[in-house]
Amino acid sequence: MRIDVFSIFPDYLAPLELSLIGKARREGLLEVHSHDLRRFTHDRHHTVDDTPYGGGAGMVMTPQPWGEALDELVGSAGGQLPTLIVPGPGGEPFTQTTAYELAGVPWLAFACGRYEGIDERVYDEARSQLGPERVRILSLGDYVLNGGEVAVLAMIEAIARLLPGVIGNEESLTEESHTGGLLEYPVYTKPATWRGHQVPQVLLSGDHQRIAAWRHDQRLARTATRRPDLLPSSATLAGGGKQPLQIVPATPADAAELFVLTRACWLDEGRTAGTFDIPPLTEDMDAMKATVAPGSPWHTWVVRDPQSGRLVGSVRGRSWRGAPDLSEPLEENVGSDRGRFWEIGRLMVAPDLHGRGLGQELLAHVVRSAPTQATTAWLVTGANSSRNLRFYRKAGFRRSRVASPYPGTVALERALSEDDL
Ligand code: ADE
Repeated sequence: MRIDVFSIFPDYLAPLELSLIGKARREGLLEVHSHDLRRFTHDRHHTVDDTPYGGGAGMVMTPQPWGEALDELVGSAGGQLPTLIVPGPGGEPFTQTTAYELAGVPWLAFACGRYEGIDERVYDEARSQLGPERVRILSLGDYVLNGGEVAVLAMIEAIARLLPGVIGNEESLTEESHTGGLLEYPVYTKPATWRGHQVPQVLLSGDHQRIAAWRHDQRLARTATRRPDLLPSSATLAGGGKQPLQIVPATPADAAELFVLTRACWLDEGRTAGTFDIPPLTEDMDAMKATVAPGSPWHTWVVRDPQSGRLVGSVRGRSWRGAPDLSEPLEENVGSDRGRFWEIGRLMVAPDLHGRGLGQELLAHVVRSAPTQATTAWLVTGANSSRNLRFYRKAGFRRSRVASPYPGTVALERALSEDDL
């Protein structure tokens, strides 16, 4: 990746020589050029600002040096065009998603504004030279800095660490804060007891499945406490409103909508599996009604958009009597609420609402709803469905000892701890 930074304080960018970013530069993974904007001025004082038209406090950066800097930049790479980022408190928020998006762009240029900002015509000129989609105004947060340099340092670090090879252990990128819409779980190192403070027992257990489940729950709990705005329960589904989403038991009146949502959600699964001959796509309305009728072994929950009332997600669970070694066909082992296995099924979220953490919430809800004697949560999912497999793996599920009875699927399980119930 090539990065060009324009600033009246190029020395501000010295930290980009240090640490992992400095190493990435030395290894040729990242090429960073910093430019002194004053090089593009022609007067004795290297002036870059003037008073605002219309009056008002402060000074505005003049368009002339920015225009010449842009011309030089565009002329420097034989027809290739950079994406220009102008940091400013009035921009769109710079988030982890923005960082991932920009990490895929081969050439970024940053323009650091100072004073009251840059003459607006510079943005117009940049849009006409680069194309409007290559000009981004991005804010680090809802506060005002003295200039763009600190924001540029933060953005470059957030972007560059996502480039292949910059971070030694790329696995560490997969579970950090803001990945998957959740904050990071707490971490501990030796000694196990320090000044009387203990490392949580589960981390010393060596049971990787329990550890993964504990970490997932910690991420959910932390996000709910510190950043409830990131969770779909306080998110806006239909725009505007802030009512919490409620996961409630399904009733027979939900059957028709559940039937339609199930079909919509499993079509892609059928395509991935190479067959549409799978129960969620073949079972009829009567079968669906039976699963939400009183007396069904399934406990089904639904979630509706509080504004439109639309049914947008669902999940269900049932317990088995005969587990853990399933010696008989699955249906024969289904009991009332006395089994040790808690089978989770039909976890679905309306396709237009994917990626907001609603599936994670539904999964956490059904896990929490397991009967107290259940020791293992168990589910099946498409053997080729890498998205589902990743999702369940992050939630602590691993390949089950109890095989799936359905062709084309794999069974996954996760231990239920007291914290879950
Ligand atoms: N320049 C001044 N304040 C800023 C902010 N909050 N984000 C990005 N650039 C800025």
